[in-house]
Amino acid sequence: MRLPTVPLGRSGELIGAQGLGCMGMSEFYGPTDTAEALATLDAALEAGITLFDTADIYGSGANEELIGPFVRANRDQVVLATKFAIERRADDPTYRAVRNDPAYIRTAVDASLRRLGVDVIDLYYMHRRDPAVPLAESVGAMAELVQAGKVRELGLSEVTGDELREAHAVHPIAALQSEWSLFSRDVERTAVPAAAELGVTFVPYSPLGRGFLTGSFAAAEQLTEDDYRRYHPQFSGPNAAANAALIAPIQKIAADRGVTTAQIALAWVHQRAEVHGLTVVPIPGTRKRTRLAENTAAATLRLTTAELAALEPIAGQVTGTRYADMSSTSAGRE
Ligand SMILES: NC(=O)c1ccc[n+]([C@@H]2O[C@H](COP(=O)([O-])OP(=O)(O)OC[C@H]3O[C@@H](n4cnc5c(N)ncnc54)[C@H](OP(=O)(O)O)[C@@H]3O)[C@@H](O)[C@H]2O)c1
Repeated sequence: MRLPTVPLGRSGELIGAQGLGCMGMSEFYGPTDTAEALATLDAALEAGITLFDTADIYGSGANEELIGPFVRANRDQVVLATKFAIERRADDPTYRAVRNDPAYIRTAVDASLRRLGVDVIDLYYMHRRDPAVPLAESVGAMAELVQAGKVRELGLSEVTGDELREAHAVHPIAALQSEWSLFSRDVERTAVPAAAELGVTFVPYSPLGRGFLTGSFAAAEQLTEDDYRRYHPQFSGPNAAANAALIAPIQKIAADRGVTTAQIALAWVHQRAEVHGLTVVPIPGTRKRTRLAENTAAATLRLTTAELAALEPIAGQVTGTRYADMSSTSAGRE
């Protein structure tokens, strides 16, 4: 089965209704296997996935370098999305600074183009918002990249509804990428309604709750030492056991339907978007070919009204925030 297609904002372009999150292929989610990652990229395209999501910070540039050859080999079919705004330092692995100033943006885009080995980025996102820099300045600098032919479409990540409106008035925004899943629904307050109103495609990240919604791990201690989810507030300490118990209704529906919990979680995001009247392209992350048929099939799986009602209370019961520091998320500024 190939994925259906949906519009990317008002760009006129059609993209596969589910994308591929490439982050875990280079960092954050434990051991990586380059050969399997590259095979997964090819298999994803075969399955109808066209939107491939990376960022300059994933592996400090390594993820852009990893997917570059694949993108170049399939340039006409791939919609390449990358991001700027989170600065890292080689001498301090924990260092992070949010940078939205035009000079930084101009340097960041050239570095991404070089690592990817391409002339143009199809969708360039501002990864995080620095409220100290006027949004019009940042989006203005991003619009200049479009005029210069370095970028085709603009996106934002983790902005509020008002920030999305303000940015869209400076230059059309094609996509908003923020966390949205059965566990994380704060975007439904302001960001989702604004995206629906403006015709912005919503790209839900971590639609599988970073893997937790699939039941593949139930506590931080089950993850390897290098897995950053060990420090995630929802997966550590007493929160982990309380949150793991919330998965039971997802597992029951999956068992009754003869599908997987990952498929129920993904189908929920696709269907929840219909309620809000907007286009979504969730980007489940995987490093493995075996997940692709499973995840893409979820895009056309329909949940019943009773199943949706059973899933409705979950997010309201989740304990722990979705980041230790929420200040650079949309919910942290609403
Ligand atoms: N804009 C932002 O701030 C932001 C933040 C985070 C992520 N992202 C983007 O969003 C993408 C997706 O988010 P995410 O990777 O954080 O979380 P996710 O998609 O919710 O979950 C990814 C995890 O689920 C596992 N998984 C995938 N399919 C599965 C299946 N069918 N059954 C069981 N496990 C499955 C993956 O493991 P395997 O690899 O073993 O399959 C991985 O550990 C990232 O890759 C990245 O591109 C953006």
